[in-house]
Amino acid sequence: MTNIPVLDDLGDVRGRRVLVRTDFNVPMNDGEISDDFRIRAALPTINWLTERGATVVCASHLGRPKGRPEPKYSMAPVRERLAVLAPGVELMENLRFHPGEEGNDSAFVANLIDGIDLYVNDAFGAAHRAHASIVGPPKTLPSAMGLLLQKEVGVLLGLRNQPKRPFVAVLGGSKISDKLGVVEALLNTVDALVIGGAMCFTFFLAQGKTVGLSLSEPDQIETCKRLLASGKTIHLPEDIVGLNAEGVFSTYGTRLPEGAKGFDIGPGSAAAFSDIIMDARTVFWNGPMGMFEDDRFAAGTRTVAQAMADTKAFTVVGGGDSAAALAQFGLDDEVDHVSTGGGASLELLELGDLPGLAALRGAPRVG
Ligand code: 3PG
Repeated sequence: MTNIPVLDDLGDVRGRRVLVRTDFNVPMNDGEISDDFRIRAALPTINWLTERGATVVCASHLGRPKGRPEPKYSMAPVRERLAVLAPGVELMENLRFHPGEEGNDSAFVANLIDGIDLYVNDAFGAAHRAHASIVGPPKTLPSAMGLLLQKEVGVLLGLRNQPKRPFVAVLGGSKISDKLGVVEALLNTVDALVIGGAMCFTFFLAQGKTVGLSLSEPDQIETCKRLLASGKTIHLPEDIVGLNAEGVFSTYGTRLPEGAKGFDIGPGSAAAFSDIIMDARTVFWNGPMGMFEDDRFAAGTRTVAQAMADTKAFTVVGGGDSAAALAQFGLDDEVDHVSTGGGASLELLELGDLPGLAALRGAPRVG
């Protein structure tokens, strides 16, 4: 973290026009914001600047519009919400309406910072993208990380560098291929890795078990074999719930019959995972244990979320689906840190740095 300028390093911001890159990529439902967590998370930085007399211009992406305007990805609903939470703060239109954003085009950057004096990156959730608005402005403008980015980086690098032990990582979600890098990096740091979600089925295949029709990635079986042979502690589920070939709710051990499809870890696994979380001193959780959006398959994720809330360990939840699950169970205030970044938190844990941080490190300093 050292060497990255912070807000105080910007000097006197009174009367300055400050571009704040935020991650306002909020979940939308029928044109309405379904969770404004990421907007609220940027308020400390926005307020810090406005209280000191700066004019704040926010800029963000929303969704993945592919370089052209698409009305469903308009920032208008976010702008409306921001006007309530931080009156008087400007918000540009969706950065990804222009191909220059993802293409990191210098003409696009020049346009973005036209009339801007200072740049602040508070978009932790997008700091792993080497996009124009993340890496471009710090090339020429005095820049700093915002309070959210600073907090996220502090917590996640703390986990990576000096966790209180035992340190346990609980990973879920559907694909091991998405998380391979972080799994390998975490195996070097954690005392135990707990695997739930559909990614456990590829590990089952690596152990020679059967998974029926459950989601799996046969091309990752060799990788899973290698991870299992690494000598590190990897806890896999001992039971699975799902639907049998006739579509009836069923509970299985770790050998699923033909036609069966697993959708959640079973009660025995949930209890075992909960014990591991309760006994740890640091826990990082990313990815649901099952298809928690469906009540029949929410129990595993709910038990893990409850253990995260109950344990005395320092608890960190990587953004995305696990944060949504915590919120669904009303437990989001019960953990120590809910990250606003999904991919960004995994990449920071894996690599210890992000393109957005590297760009800030190289920015010109004030004065
Ligand atoms: C996120 O939601 O994880 C961030 O806003 C990044 O979005 P992206 O994956 O579309 O770049």
